Amino acid sequence: MELKVAFLPGDGVGPEVTESARGVLDALGDRFGFSVRGSSHPVGWSAVQQGYDSLPDATLQACLEADAVFLGAVGHPNADGVPPGQRPEAALLRLRSELGCWANLRPLKVGEELVDRSALKAERVRGTDLLVVRELAGGLYYGEPRGSENGHAWNTLRYEEGEVGRIAELAFDLAERRRGRVTSVDKANVLETSRLWRDVVAEVGRARPGVALEHMFVDRAAMELVLNPTRFDVIVTSNLFGDILSDEAGALAGSLGVLGSASLGGRSDLYEPVHGSAPDIAGCGTANPMGALSSVALMLRHTFALEEAAEALDDAVRATLAAGIWTADLATPADEPVGTDAFTAQVRDRLGRSEES
Ligand code: NAD
Ligand code: IPM
Ligand code: MN
Repeated sequence: MELKVAFLPGDGVGPEVTESARGVLDALGDRFGFSVRGSSHPVGWSAVQQGYDSLPDATLQACLEADAVFLGAVGHPNADGVPPGQRPEAALLRLRSELGCWANLRPLKVGEELVDRSALKAERVRGTDLLVVRELAGGLYYGEPRGSENGHAWNTLRYEEGEVGRIAELAFDLAERRRGRVTSVDKANVLETSRLWRDVVAEVGRARPGVALEHMFVDRAAMELVLNPTRFDVIVTSNLFGDILSDEAGALAGSLGVLGSASLGGRSDLYEPVHGSAPDIAGCGTANPMGALSSVALMLRHTFALEEAAEALDDAVRATLAAGIWTADLATPADEPVGTDAFTAQVRDRLGRSEES
C-alpha cells in the first residue's frame, strides 16, 4: 500500500514538528508494510518569503491530488501588517475551504502519564477523554460581508441548516462509537445563528435515541471544561467556539503542543496539530511534536484505515512519556527536558516494541 501525502511544513515550529511527523510515518511504514509517497510544499509566511503567494497554486494542486495533507503551522509576527487576504492564516482558511473540509476533530485524552502535567489538579483531570467536533467550513470565519474602513470593521456570522445538520450527524455518529453523549455548545440565549444551531441539532438528536444530547451555552462550557472535564464525551460546536474551546482543552493536557486534529469531509483529508507557529520557541528545537504525531495517528486511522499502525504510534508516545521523557512545555523542574528530535527518536525507538516483547 502506498500513502500519497502532501506535507506543508509552513512557519515557525511548523517545519520542526513536520520533520518529526514525516520521520515517524516513514518508520511506521517500514514496520507495518506500507510506503509513503511524500512531497513537500510551501505555504504561509515562508512561502511569501520565497516569492510565492501564501497558498501557491502548485501547493493547492498537490493537496488536491494527495490522499492526505499534513500541515505544520502557519503564522508569523512580521505578517501582522499585511492585507487580510495575504496573511498566512488566510492561506490555511483557503486551503480548508478549497479542499472542502467541513469537520475538524480534536480529541483530548489525558492518560495516567499526563495527569500530573495538566493545568488542573490530577484528581479533576483524571479520566478526561473528550472529542471536540468543530464545524470548519462556515460561521464567523467565512461569513460575508466582512471588511473594515475608517475605524469601522465588520464580520458576518451566518449558518445554514445544512451546514449544522451535517456536523451534528457526524457528532452523533462519533458519539455512538464512544460513550454515547453529545454536548452541543452554542450561545442560543443571544445569537440567532445559535438558535438555528440548537434547533437543528435537537432535530438530529430526536432520530438518535441511543445518544444522550445536552445543549450548553459556550460561556458555561468554558467553565465546565476546567471544573469537570470528565463530564464531556463529544462536544459539537461552531467554527469560532470550537477554536477557542480546543485551546482550552490543550491546557487540560498540560500543553497546547499535545493536541492533534483531523479535518474531514473534503476532497483530501487535512491533518494539523492544534497549535500554531509558536514564534516564541521557533528555531530552538524544543517544540513538542506530540500534536503532530497525534495528527499522524489520526491520518492513519481516518484516511488509510491503518488502525494497528495508529495504535502502535499512540502506544509509543505514551511509553515515551511513561519513561519520563518530556519536552520543555511538559517538563517539571525535576525533569531534564529533551528537544523535538530527541523526543521523536525515543518514540521511533518504541514503535511496535510491546508487540515484539
Ligand atoms: P501558538 O499555538 O503558536 O502558541 C501558543 C503558546 O503555546 C506559545 O507559548 C507556544 O510556545 C506554545 N506552544 C505552541 N505549540 C507548541 C509546541 N508544539 N510545543 C511547545 N509549546 C508550544 O499560538 P499563538 O502564539 O496565539 O499564535 C502564533 C501564530 O500561530 C499566529 O500567527 C497564529 O495565527 C498562528 N496559528 C496558527 C495555527 C495553525 O497553523 N494551525 C494555529 C494557531 C495559531
Ligand atoms: C487553528 C488556528 C486557525 C483557526 C487559524 C490559524 C486560522 O487557530 O487551527 O486552531 O482559527 O482555525
Ligand atoms: Mn486555534
